[in-house]
Amino acid sequence: MDFKVADLSLAEFGRKEIRLAEHEMPGLMAIRKEYAASQPLRGAKIMGSLHMTIQTAVLIETLVALGAEVRWVSCNIFSTQDHAAAAVVVGPDGTPEDPKGVPVFAWKGETLEEYWWCTEQALAWPGADGPNMILDDGGDATLLVHKGAEYEKAGFVPEATGDDPEEWHVIIDLLKRTVTDEKRWSRIAEGIKGVTEETTTGVHRLYEMHKNGQLLFPAINVNDSVTKSKFDNKYGCRHSVIDGLNRATDVLIGGKVAVVCGYGDVGKGCADALRGQGARVIVTEIDPICALQAAMDGFQVTTLEDVVGIADIFVTTTGNFNIIRADHMAQMKHQAIVSNIGHFDNEIDMAGLAKTPGIERRTIKPQVDEWVFPDGHSILVLAEGRLMNLGCATGHPSFVMSNSFTNQVIAQIELFTKTADYPIGVYTLPKHLDEKVARLHLDALGVKLTQLTKEQAAYIGVHVEGPYKSDHYRY
Ligand code: NAI
Repeated sequence: MDFKVADLSLAEFGRKEIRLAEHEMPGLMAIRKEYAASQPLRGAKIMGSLHMTIQTAVLIETLVALGAEVRWVSCNIFSTQDHAAAAVVVGPDGTPEDPKGVPVFAWKGETLEEYWWCTEQALAWPGADGPNMILDDGGDATLLVHKGAEYEKAGFVPEATGDDPEEWHVIIDLLKRTVTDEKRWSRIAEGIKGVTEETTTGVHRLYEMHKNGQLLFPAINVNDSVTKSKFDNKYGCRHSVIDGLNRATDVLIGGKVAVVCGYGDVGKGCADALRGQGARVIVTEIDPICALQAAMDGFQVTTLEDVVGIADIFVTTTGNFNIIRADHMAQMKHQAIVSNIGHFDNEIDMAGLAKTPGIERRTIKPQVDEWVFPDGHSILVLAEGRLMNLGCATGHPSFVMSNSFTNQVIAQIELFTKTADYPIGVYTLPKHLDEKVARLHLDALGVKLTQLTKEQAAYIGVHVEGPYKSDHYRY
């Protein structure tokens, strides 16, 4: 088996945590039971690009339990939990000397070159051109296949320019090496039945590609299952934003001024959590609806410029770029904490910060840097501007990820087994499946549902067994 992880001797620790996580992931475990006999993913070759954590290990082993062959990478250079990666490679029945699990190419603290090398490795399927399914988070695997196929069609790979981010130069170098007359990327793209995408940012990319007529295979937008974005993005971040801040800095949050940029699902969870710790939370927004929601939830809403000099903690949650600029950071209080929990690192202008004349970077510990300005004041930047909950802590806890990942498995089954029903396009799962995911998590929390009577169902125009809401209902 080919793989590359940090240290296989961590597998035993990983396996113990996987065992605990399985109990906290009732949705995934129920799906394993439901499909144990029918093996709907037999024949599926799934390439996964999603944070290689303990929770993801339970997802991977669920896909395998349903018959799939799997190869995996992390979708962020800092988010891998090395013990989880080791346990997945070793597998439940293997040993570090004789690994029997799933090929994983991921370790905490990859360089950008290593990150894209890993993605390329996981897409290279032994005995086949490539995978026939992608499970993506943020869209990097999908991007690589699409760009490779696009440049093969054009017959050349365009040069990256000085204006392009560093990462784009790495991708272009990889494609220059791999775009050849043999049309490897086009063949991989042709073999893919579909992709299931985990997060807001990846979903934006998919809709954009579809709008421009560039999408090469169908996609299921898992993010916009209600049981994903209204749970993982909100309640997951409500948990893990504090975890990231604590593990990175252990600064007391109570009494501090915290700025949350963006009040979408992630922003709502972060603002709630910071308020729960006793911070005075200020929100920035561009959307009048979200700004009004924040105001009615009791948060001051203003611009970053208004409060940049008084806040102690900054968290960007927008999925947009250039939210906190270098000139903002120069104006911050001494030892203000600057962090991002959105998918990509460009929410904070790290390149601009590094170019500030006279600035000095002092690494306090991995993923915590103090940047000292020439006047002597400094700021603390978490995870080099990458998502801090996975860079500085362990991401979302198992129970909430069970909701997200149950949607992922159902979406994989849908696309793999009903390929003809999904012409190229971007789809969400039907509501009855969303409700099923929620239902699978009720018992564990001791939730007792009220049973709709036939008459009540007729009165509100639904079926007794659901779905209970129209598609335009917003929760
Ligand atoms: P969303 O679209 O619900 O929320 C983003 C909000 O930011 C929107 O309300 C938008 O109006 C606002 N916004 C955009 N530009 C802004 C600006 N210049 N200033 C202030 N506000 C601005 O998206 P969601 O689901 O909250 O996701 C946000 C990001 O977090 C995405 O990149 C997503 O992929 C990522 N994500 C990260 C997770 C993690 O564990 N770190 C978990 C889930 C999502």
